[in-house]
Amino acid sequence: MIDFHCHILPGIDDGAQNLEKSLALARQCVNSGVDTVVATPHGHGSVFETLLPRRAEAFKLLSETLVKEDIPLKLCPGMEYFADGHSVDMAVAHPEILCGVPGTPNRPLLLELSIDMDLHFVADLLFMAQLKGVPLVLAHPERYKNFRKSFDLLCELMDKGLVLQFNSEDFHKSFFNRAIPNMMLALVDHDPTRVVVGSDAHDAEERPAGLEVAMENVSKAFGKAVWERVSQQNPAELLGL
Ligand SMILES: [Fe+2]
Repeated sequence: MIDFHCHILPGIDDGAQNLEKSLALARQCVNSGVDTVVATPHGHGSVFETLLPRRAEAFKLLSETLVKEDIPLKLCPGMEYFADGHSVDMAVAHPEILCGVPGTPNRPLLLELSIDMDLHFVADLLFMAQLKGVPLVLAHPERYKNFRKSFDLLCELMDKGLVLQFNSEDFHKSFFNRAIPNMMLALVDHDPTRVVVGSDAHDAEERPAGLEVAMENVSKAFGKAVWERVSQQNPAELLGL
């Protein structure tokens, strides 16, 4: 299984604060059956030039330590890019901010929006991204304020090529907010080829790694083949794995 969204790199953002905490997340990944994780620290236009060398150093350190500690987890480079008016131009000029194996053509941009942004903004971004040949993955759409009112819009954007990345724990059917996981499942059902899943893990205690909640709910609703599609096949194709 591939975790598409994880703040596992040590000392880069508000995720794992040091190597020890990165290794705790890595062990959680492996224990939950994840064999590949996309390391996606937060990034945005004004910091990425200083972020990139720090990210490369942290990526190398963690990759080497995973081998040394005999933890069977593969790291894939990535970034959770905070959307601005220049996101697509940035992705074209600096392909290092894309997710996937370097050198793979058509790697995707994992895009995060501000929480209250209208999802209609994504339609414009998707249009611009497609003109430039950059596939777009929208990070955790279920966390944005107008998600529940945007079912038709999201279906339309998926039909046009947008990929949705859902956070595993958001599939949990809490008593007060069942509408959100139900709508996430309905979007998986709309087109399972346009969905990937991630933990969005930051910390082994507070925001842990693992895809168990998504696996349980997606498999129960649609069977193992659909789970395999969203947790393995789709991300592998997007990332060039
Ligand atoms: Fe994140």
